[in-house]
Amino acid sequence: MPGAPETARAGTVSLDFLGDLRRTHHCGELRASDAGRRALLMGWVHRRRDLGGVIFVHLRDREGVTQVVFHENLDPEVHRKAESLRLEYVIAVEGRVEKRSPETVNPNIPTGEIELVAEKLWILNDSRTPPFPLEDAVEVSEEVRLKHRFVDLRRPRMQRNIMLRSRVSFAVREFLTSQGFLEIETPFMTRSTPEGARDFLVPSRLQPGCFYALPQSPQLFKQLLMVSGMDKYFQIVRCFRDEDLRADRQPEFTQIDLEMSFCQQERIFEVIEPMLVKVCEVAGYRIRTPFPRLSYEEAMRRYGTDKPDLRVPPMHAVGDLFPAGALAADGWPLMAIHLPGVGALSRRERDELKAFGAERGLRVYDDLKRLEREFPQAMDGLRARVGYAPEDLLLLASWAGVPQGQRPLETVLSACGQLRMHAAQKYNERHRLLDPREFRFLWVTDFPMFEWDEQEQRWTAAHHPFTSPHDEDLDKLTSDPASCRAKSYDLVLNGIELGSGSIRIHRRDVQARVFDALGFTREEAERRFGFLLEALEYGAPPHGGIALGLDRLVMILAGEGTIRDVIAFPKTSRGADLMCEAPSPVPEQQLRELGITLLRR
Ligand code: AMO
Repeated sequence: MPGAPETARAGTVSLDFLGDLRRTHHCGELRASDAGRRALLMGWVHRRRDLGGVIFVHLRDREGVTQVVFHENLDPEVHRKAESLRLEYVIAVEGRVEKRSPETVNPNIPTGEIELVAEKLWILNDSRTPPFPLEDAVEVSEEVRLKHRFVDLRRPRMQRNIMLRSRVSFAVREFLTSQGFLEIETPFMTRSTPEGARDFLVPSRLQPGCFYALPQSPQLFKQLLMVSGMDKYFQIVRCFRDEDLRADRQPEFTQIDLEMSFCQQERIFEVIEPMLVKVCEVAGYRIRTPFPRLSYEEAMRRYGTDKPDLRVPPMHAVGDLFPAGALAADGWPLMAIHLPGVGALSRRERDELKAFGAERGLRVYDDLKRLEREFPQAMDGLRARVGYAPEDLLLLASWAGVPQGQRPLETVLSACGQLRMHAAQKYNERHRLLDPREFRFLWVTDFPMFEWDEQEQRWTAAHHPFTSPHDEDLDKLTSDPASCRAKSYDLVLNGIELGSGSIRIHRRDVQARVFDALGFTREEAERRFGFLLEALEYGAPPHGGIALGLDRLVMILAGEGTIRDVIAFPKTSRGADLMCEAPSPVPEQQLRELGITLLRR
């Protein structure tokens, strides 16, 4: 609770100076083998128990917790001082390490076999009562946590996450540097780099009316570095995107960004897979390579999504087993969704699944008994194809009516895929397929080159406009954009898009044709990307790359459900920093200097 009453204020206890005190160990370090040694620890009072003649304090720092004990009969003066300790006071304690008696050993902490018998105590600072308990198990509203992030980050779970993040970054740097990649910084104050979101703009004081854009990614700069002959580039880099936020999206986030010259998709995979082996090792997990691959088309057909979660079984097309038109409109798929081990669902649970499907345009068949009666032969075939047992959940789904849109088959498959994951998440307690410690990486390749934008009624780049089309699709760029495939690939982990990349266009003529296909006029292409087009005229090598979301990677490795829990100072879903209250209004004078007048305050 913010504004909780304070138990002690500076001034009510007398504070000691640090002087030249030096700690000998951190709070997670001492073991039974250290018994008899002297030690000086520093940290925060995590817990405190006053039994009269004996006071126990759990002293916490980043590395762990050590029990400190103050005996009145050892030194009444020190014991009296210890009586004034409260939660989160910052102290230094010196004493002797002693083995605990067997019945007081705490097997839950690595230092649980010892305690520090305090002989000297320095109170380095007091603390207001924290706004919430710092135990991991205590549920605290995220708003309160983010407002007091400096306290929240003291929680052992958050400390573990931030430390894991640091180790992951280090492993990435070490690995890529060992593979000949150069770490090169690219500007934050730049021109728009389109990745499908809105830009954050920074007004220029020296050129009133002009704005820098914060980069949505270093895409253009890393390509220019290839033109410059840097050969292999990487950066662990902040990117900025003004888009709607979700659990796995922040307005500023971090990419592991890389680019290589003279490479095909395979060369990129050869770098990323062993890098992730190292990164997972750092988090204590062993993963297998090579990662499986699916083309975009296969992924859609089997999972109804371009981000399949391989922990859940694929769907099966089973329309051919049933009489034409019986369960699905002629020519449209009937998909079987199979979840092993779910057990019987209640009528209400089944109705909920059907309603979920119906909201997405699907007709869902769940009455297997009726289907067995009406189509016994088809159901035999279905059993053989899908391999389901009586305790499994089996749903059949088809489109109710005729699907619309530029890629109608995808519309149907995508709705079925959503139903598959909805059921998998809803009944995970029963089938336990979604084990957060199982890492199922997957490459999805050969995406379509273009996506149809219903609102703007035009084709847009499915990845970004610098992605190369397949060599054999070059001639179809304007005549048949729907069927053009791109040399692009996504890395998916447990149903989450972890990374995305492509082989780039390195020829100016091809880049100009892709801009044409995207409906950019020559002038617009020149105005926005003239510098890139020019660079492509000066001996640009074939090149390609990828960017992985560092926040998402660490989130999954840490077993967290949101990237906010692996970012030291994240924003809320409304893009706000509750602690320092950003964004905030600025003084009139500052706006005037920038030549800005606001329409609304
Ligand atoms: P893309 O836009 O797909 O590709 O981004 C790459 C990866 O960055 C992560 N990511 C995000 N993470 C948190 N919050 C966000 N708002 C956010 N947006 C993206 C995701 C995503 O897979 N320049 C290209 C890469 C390339 O072609 O090399 C790019 O940025 O994990």
